[in-house]
Amino acid sequence: MSYKGETLAKKWARQVVWTMLNEGFSDENERHPVLVLASEVGGDVPVARSFGVDDRRLLAVDQRTAALARFSEAYPNVETFRGTMLAALKRTPRIAGAHLDYCGNLSKSVVYDVALALRRLRGNGIIAVNLLRGREHRSRIRIGGTTKPVGEWMRLLKAERPELKPYQVRLMVVMYALKTQGVSPWSLAVYEYQSGVSPMTTFVLRQDPRCFIRHNKTFFYANQPAHEDADWKRAMLDSEFGNADTFAVDRRTWAAWKAHRTMGTYDG
Ligand SMILES: C[S@@+](CC[C@H](N)C(=O)[O-])C[C@H]1O[C@@H](n2cnc3c(N)ncnc32)[C@H](O)[C@@H]1O
Repeated sequence: MSYKGETLAKKWARQVVWTMLNEGFSDENERHPVLVLASEVGGDVPVARSFGVDDRRLLAVDQRTAALARFSEAYPNVETFRGTMLAALKRTPRIAGAHLDYCGNLSKSVVYDVALALRRLRGNGIIAVNLLRGREHRSRIRIGGTTKPVGEWMRLLKAERPELKPYQVRLMVVMYALKTQGVSPWSLAVYEYQSGVSPMTTFVLRQDPRCFIRHNKTFFYANQPAHEDADWKRAMLDSEFGNADTFAVDRRTWAAWKAHRTMGTYDG
């Protein structure tokens, strides 16, 4: 099963997110669930398993009944919740982490979800928020006492701090919007990557101050699907931490990639 956004770049980005989520798991939060957005693909599950996270520790949320039905067929041991992420968070008092992998832009509802998720975090847990970037200009969000479209907030901040890069400006908008909701997390990393035709950004946030801001430029890839795919295949095959299952690549496809690699080509 595959959906439009399920590109090789996406598979790689998931591994990066889970590497960070995994850093936030500890004795303090081992009994609490990790929230993910399900989709029909459920791409988080095999990656979580590769980090030793048991299916029963995940809570997979989706507001689409059809998506959850397919998800549950593939992953019957993962608990699911049908409804919004906000509703799921409201009934879950403590969490160990979350991968809020939306298919949309930064918006008011994303800010509410992330603020509540951060409040629910226990231990050094991490929240990863994956968004479409670049088309968020019309969504209105509140900063301080004023509500304006995201694009306008970005223009205002950029005018004040012209030296900032777009990802830093976007991060500042997110941080100010969260502060307005009463939470002031730390940013652990910002990743930007191109998933097919969609430019994506991932913010990795935590409440614990032991962190740093990192922006990984290797996640910028030109929108050239053929070359991009070749790069990602090579990266996956060379990776020390992943395999066909964890990248959610069909095992026969994986074997074919390996064979082509041995012959020095991916063509065919
Ligand atoms: C990009 S997909 C998740 C993909 C998944 N993380 C993976 O790696 O395979 C996003 C899913 O979240 C659902 N969704 C988006 N916003 C939501 C919200 N606020 N509450 C509940 N479900 C939501 C969509 O229906 C969609 O199936």
